[in-house]
Amino acid sequence: MSNSTIRFLKLYNYIGWLNICNHGNRTRNFPKAFITSIDSKKSHHQAELSLRRGLHSSVSSLASESRGSKLVLGIETSCDETGAAVVDEEGKVLGEGLYSQKRIHVKNGGVIPTLAQDLHRQHIDSVVQQALRNAGIQLKDVSALATTTMPGLALCLQVGLQYSKDLLRRLPLPFIPVHHMIAHALTIRMIEKIEFPYLVLLVSGGHCLLAVARGVDDFLLLGSTLDNAPGEAFDKVARRLKLHLHPACHGLSGGQAIERLSLGGNIRLLMDKERPLLKHRDCSFSFSGLKTFANWLIYNHEVKEGISREDDLLLSTIPDIAASFQHKVAHHMVTRVARAMEFCRQRDMLAGTSKSLVVSGGVASNAYIRSALQFVCDKHGYQLHCPPPRLCTDNGIMIAWAGMEKFKLGLGIVEDLQSVRYEPKYPIGMDISDQVRAADIKIKRVKFW
Ligand code: KG4
Ligand code: ZN
Repeated sequence: MSNSTIRFLKLYNYIGWLNICNHGNRTRNFPKAFITSIDSKKSHHQAELSLRRGLHSSVSSLASESRGSKLVLGIETSCDETGAAVVDEEGKVLGEGLYSQKRIHVKNGGVIPTLAQDLHRQHIDSVVQQALRNAGIQLKDVSALATTTMPGLALCLQVGLQYSKDLLRRLPLPFIPVHHMIAHALTIRMIEKIEFPYLVLLVSGGHCLLAVARGVDDFLLLGSTLDNAPGEAFDKVARRLKLHLHPACHGLSGGQAIERLSLGGNIRLLMDKERPLLKHRDCSFSFSGLKTFANWLIYNHEVKEGISREDDLLLSTIPDIAASFQHKVAHHMVTRVARAMEFCRQRDMLAGTSKSLVVSGGVASNAYIRSALQFVCDKHGYQLHCPPPRLCTDNGIMIAWAGMEKFKLGLGIVEDLQSVRYEPKYPIGMDISDQVRAADIKIKRVKFW
């Protein structure tokens, strides 16, 4: 191994990676947590390369490196990923199993809960067994089990919880129910040692919220979406643009497809029109107006080009529409984040730490949105921290790590297994969005392009 590779590995605290494809299941092994941040696009690429070079790291050596450490097995089934992983106290990932249903749901134009439930049922056991096998351990070596029990699709949460209960009946272990959004918010702490409190923006297919993370179990909600989540809006606009038929978008989620096709597009189409919640001086979000506006624009362009919604012809202006929509979504997020930063400044809510904005959830893997957020962070003296894209989308690692964070503090360990229920809706913490609204903070128009 060259000196530069060794230096890189030290820098990224990373020694290897396995990516085994097996019957459509992705199995990953992140032997050590890795460091990444917004301005490390190049580093992401280097990390990826080094990870691939590290294939020689044997599973048994990984397990032995964590000898003496507590291990948490995490299970995720809240939406359309069946995930499981084993992590140690340092945030080292010993083994992972992940089955993504995304391709199937993209074909159907959205997640069908009953189908998602069937797919979780079919794959959950093999995903868990893969995580254990890759970690080189058996279930009896695990110190605790952590499972997503809230929020999410009822039928999907049910599969993960039932599987966990069955497993715990065979082998009693401490059990830690995990809040899916809190897990997204904590993932960064397995990669970088970020101290509480910090500001967190969670943007996914089912959620959009801004919160102050004050502790592993202590969140203040500043605002959330009043209608669609941004990922949902991306998915619907992508569907309306028929991107599932586009040869460059095969197997991509709507958001990924829009990001890919927006490259080189002109953002001016939706420029001054449609600025969601302009008069609401709070941290709420709204994406349904942008979605409707994009649909109206698509319709107009179809009429101009003589294309019908039903046929399989694609618009020539897809890049412009995609870029404009993505830009408006980013702009809306940036205005709400800027207000949250000002609110935290006025209340001195992030005192004692260097100010950090953590962004996670599937939509956080969008590079354009990340760079817009970097702009607002630079302006307000914040550091922007985003997990690498593969940890922004749903996975078992984030659940295992959230479980480990609680386990280390002795928080949220269930005494009575029978009493545990799944909760399709569950708040992330104390809702102080009224206080944000009452503060009536005016934000200057943010221009990041
Ligand atoms: O966090 P996630 O995997 O699942 C939950 O919704 O919890 O997020 C999936 C969502 C999808 O709506 C997808 O379109 C969106 O994240 N997404 C993106 C990108 N990658 C995934 N949206 C915009 N740009 C992306 N690059
Ligand atoms: Zn998620």
